This record gives sequence, structure tokens and C-alpha cells, in this order.
Amino acid sequence: MTSIDADEYRLKMENKDFYLDVIQGLAQVPKRLSSKYFYDKKGDDLFQEIMVSPDYYLTRCEMEIFTCQTKDIADSLTRQKLDFELIELGPGNCAKSVYLLQALTAAGVSFNYIPVDISENIICALQSFLPAKVPGLRFNGLVGDYFNTLASHCLFTERRKVVMCLGGNIGNMTIAESNQFFKKLRGYLQPGDQCIIGFDLVKHPAVIRRAYDDGKGLTREFNLNLLNRINRELEADFRIDQFEHYCSYDPLTGAAKSYLVCLSDMVVHLPGAEIPFEKNECIWTEISQKYSKNQVRQMAIDNGFIHTAEFLDSKLWFMDAIWTAV
Ligand code: AVI
Repeated sequence: MTSIDADEYRLKMENKDFYLDVIQGLAQVPKRLSSKYFYDKKGDDLFQEIMVSPDYYLTRCEMEIFTCQTKDIADSLTRQKLDFELIELGPGNCAKSVYLLQALTAAGVSFNYIPVDISENIICALQSFLPAKVPGLRFNGLVGDYFNTLASHCLFTERRKVVMCLGGNIGNMTIAESNQFFKKLRGYLQPGDQCIIGFDLVKHPAVIRRAYDDGKGLTREFNLNLLNRINRELEADFRIDQFEHYCSYDPLTGAAKSYLVCLSDMVVHLPGAEIPFEKNECIWTEISQKYSKNQVRQMAIDNGFIHTAEFLDSKLWFMDAIWTAV
């Protein structure tokens, strides 16, 4: 193997999935990159800034739900009077769910909290600070892919399960992908098990567009950082100043979409690949799907659940829905 081959081999082995996804996505028409790659260190930091920025309302709305309606949420989960496992997919820093954990613990409810995340750092951080915030919490963090982890965990226990997926993460899938996700999730659950799912609701289109094209330019930086990441980790040569952030919101479909627009004809190089771009060609980088209340209710039924309860913020912009598996 020559040293160039060896370099390419090392690069491809370390970042193999990322590399293959990028090459495959950029070969498509229209070109696509997955938003799951936004979250390197810089992307994580930018997303933290976005969440507290004035134009990005989602986090504030859901926080209001979890702080003002905590007891009602806890009551909806404990009607069955059975011990349960509270499994949170993608817990982040638990900023919202901690209120629910505190309410359940204070009410003497018997449950285990099981955050699941692909990042070991997140699980370790929770393990170190949550016990002080929620004294008496039974914590069993799991590192891994959501469904593989659920699959192996469900084999170990017959206990009732409540699966929580907050923050509008469901919105980063198309409607078809979300339906697949819920069908698969339902497959791991027993009748009576529940989920709590966050949905960003349709609202005035200008409010939504502003959230994804904010006044501080944070979303712009967040989107462009994906190209920086590809340059750094995959040794590509994107000229970042030749790309622009663009976002659209279609009120008829509820889809907010982000793109990177190429400003001139060019060829971008990655190890073993050359990608031609035309001026004004767009790379589709993210969908943030918005739902009507009725769409959420119907989605429960379509995927084997009953829509048991719904909690909305005071602006009626965000919903946390509780679904019960039938
Ligand atoms: C993580 N996710 C729910 C965010 C969203 O609203 O789609 C990611 C984001 N993209 C741009 N701003 C925030």
C-alpha cells in the first residue's frame, strides 16, 4: 500500500459511515447531506446558542410545558400504578426531563430512569450531575444506537416502559420516516406501555421561517459548519465562502427545509471523489417538520397507539403528546 492509499484507508476506516453518507448524498440529485452530522463540538456549541436565542422558540415552549404542567404529565404516566422504566432517547442535558424526574421521585413513584444516547460523554455527564439534582433517582444510562439499545434492553425486562423523545427531534425526519420510526418503536413495546413525544406545531409561517433563519445568523453558521466538518474530518476542499445558508418553509406541507446554496460553478474534492457543483445548486441539509394537532393525533392511531393526553404551551406552538401502545 502506498502512503496515499494508507492515508485514504485510515481516513475511510475512522470516519467510514460519515464518508460514505457524504459521498452518497452528494451523488444524489438534488444533493443531500444528513443533519445528524451537524453535531461536532462546534455544532453542539452552536445548537446550545440557538436554543436560547430569541428567534428559536421550540426549547422555550417545551420548557414551559415541562415546568408548568409537570404534575399533570407525571399523573398521566402513573395511572397504571405499576413500576416502570422511563427510557429517554437523546436526553441531551436533561434540562426539561429533570422536572419530570423530580416530580416522579417526590411523589414516591417507583421507576428507573434510562437515558439512551450514542454519545458516552452525554451519559457520563448525566451520571455525574443528575443524582445531586434528583436525590434517590435510580439511574441506568445506556450508550448506543436507539433501537439496538432498546432491543437488547427490552429482552432483559418485562417491566412497563415509558419512552420519551423530546425537543422536536422527531421533526428532523420526514413524515414517512417518522411513521417508520413509530412503527419500529411500537414493535419494542407491550400494550399499556407509553411514549412522550415532542412535536413542533404549525403556526404563522413567518415565525417558523425566522426560527431557521435567525437574526443573529446562528442557524446560518450551524448549517455552514457542516462543510467545515467535512473539510476537516474527511479532507475535503469545500470553499465555505462560496456557499450560503437558505431556508424555506412550506405552510401547505409543514416542512421547514435548510439548504446550502453554491454560489459558483466548482468541483469539490474528497479522497477518491470529485463532486461537480453548478452555480445556484443546493444541498438539502435538514428538514424540521411541523405538525397540526390532528396530524399528531392521527399519527398515534396509524402506528398502534392511543393518543392519551396532550400538553401545549401557552402560545399553542408546541405539543408533548402521551401515547399508549394498544
Ligand atoms: C434538533 N432539532 C430539533 C433542531 C430543529 O429545530 O430542527 C435542529 C435545528 N436546526 C436548526 N436550528 C435548530
